[in-house]
Amino acid sequence: MVEIRRLGPQIGVEVRGVDVKTLDDSGFAPIYQAWLDCNILVVRDQELEIPDFLSYSRRFGPISPHPSKSTRHPDYPEITMLGVNKFDRAGRLNEEIYRRGAAGWHTDGAYDALPFKATQLYAVAVPSRGGNTLFANGYAAYDGLPPRLKERLEGKKGAFTYGGRRKHVALLNEEDRDWRPVFHPIIRTHPETGRKSLYFDPGKILYIEGFEKSESDALIDQLAERMIRPDAEYHHKWVKGDIVIWDNRCSYHRAAGDYPPEEDRIHWRVSIKDFETTAQAAAE
Ligand code: SIN
Repeated sequence: MVEIRRLGPQIGVEVRGVDVKTLDDSGFAPIYQAWLDCNILVVRDQELEIPDFLSYSRRFGPISPHPSKSTRHPDYPEITMLGVNKFDRAGRLNEEIYRRGAAGWHTDGAYDALPFKATQLYAVAVPSRGGNTLFANGYAAYDGLPPRLKERLEGKKGAFTYGGRRKHVALLNEEDRDWRPVFHPIIRTHPETGRKSLYFDPGKILYIEGFEKSESDALIDQLAERMIRPDAEYHHKWVKGDIVIWDNRCSYHRAAGDYPPEEDRIHWRVSIKDFETTAQAAAE
């Protein structure tokens, strides 16, 4: 029997009792709706091969290969491998791989003109302790902003690049490190739910248009402090076979980056774009 239950207070939903390999459209519809309602969807107990994971992921939208070519799966470039090749030949830990996603709260793909709708992970190997992924709700972040700040940000766009102000591009090949800024509304109306959220990523934003530099920097600092509402967080403890998908249009996440480095923590990961019709609505 299919069970759908909420996880965190304002974020997260879990599904049990399905096999995503055989899910038909009528089975998928309530799961998709639960994801839209709760920002993060966990599906437990899945036994998948890569083609199964890709087909299920495509139900959410077209998959786009991640710009970090060195971490792509050699046979399936749409799959990014997390946690693989952590040690170099001399046995030194590569911190970029070990701590990938742990530098701070972020949303994926804000550096693209059409940012990622969603990111989906499948747990292939999990460590004995640590290694959680932390999630927070972007609608709650918007709702919690003081009215005066909401007014100042309404209609304003942020300029984003891959490495942001710190130019953090270590996982990219040399030839892929030059990024032009793209612009997205800071207060973003979700194209499918119609709800407003704070669309923000302190690691990728350069500035907010329409403000002097010092004012824009101060606003960025303020938003970095306000983006996470502890009463709207969910921390996912991975179990092998979990699939987790997050909605980058209305949530933030980060890896805890705290598991024993000698243990495996391996995920397949895909970046998913909006379907064309939704992408148009998002851009309008
Ligand atoms: C990410 O930040 O995209 C990865 C999250 C994780 O590995 O837990």
